[in-house]
Amino acid sequence: MKLYIKVMKDGDLPPGKSAIVTVRDQEIALFNYKGKYFAVSNKCPHKGAPLGEGRIEEGVIICPNHEWRFSLETGGCPQNPELKTTVFPVRVHKGVVRIGIDEDEGKKAVGKEKNAVPDALKFKIPTIQKPINPDETL
Ligand code: FES
Repeated sequence: MKLYIKVMKDGDLPPGKSAIVTVRDQEIALFNYKGKYFAVSNKCPHKGAPLGEGRIEEGVIICPNHEWRFSLETGGCPQNPELKTTVFPVRVHKGVVRIGIDEDEGKKAVGKEKNAVPDALKFKIPTIQKPINPDETL
């Protein structure tokens, strides 16, 4: 079941503009495209760039980093059919814009104490600075 969370007032985001909003600890890119709202995960599934800073052409978000494209309606990527960004439903009711998320999305596991690794178990993993084979990329 979806929970619709209030993110802004209708009219706060003019047509052609985007905003990055946080809903239950996740960043969502909200677009007003030709007067209709669309919401997708702000994190580009390619390499994590903020899709909310991208531009839109013909109903397609263009990622600001490598210009991969994602459909506003489906989240699908025409360059790579295996890649898709999460699309969230948006409702506007009584002048309020709400984004729908799964009821348990963003909830953290609840326990008596925070999970913490005891100091005795902590160890340092060296950071790989250069590839062993210089022709190889990380
Ligand atoms: S990070 Fe978005 S296309 Fe590469």
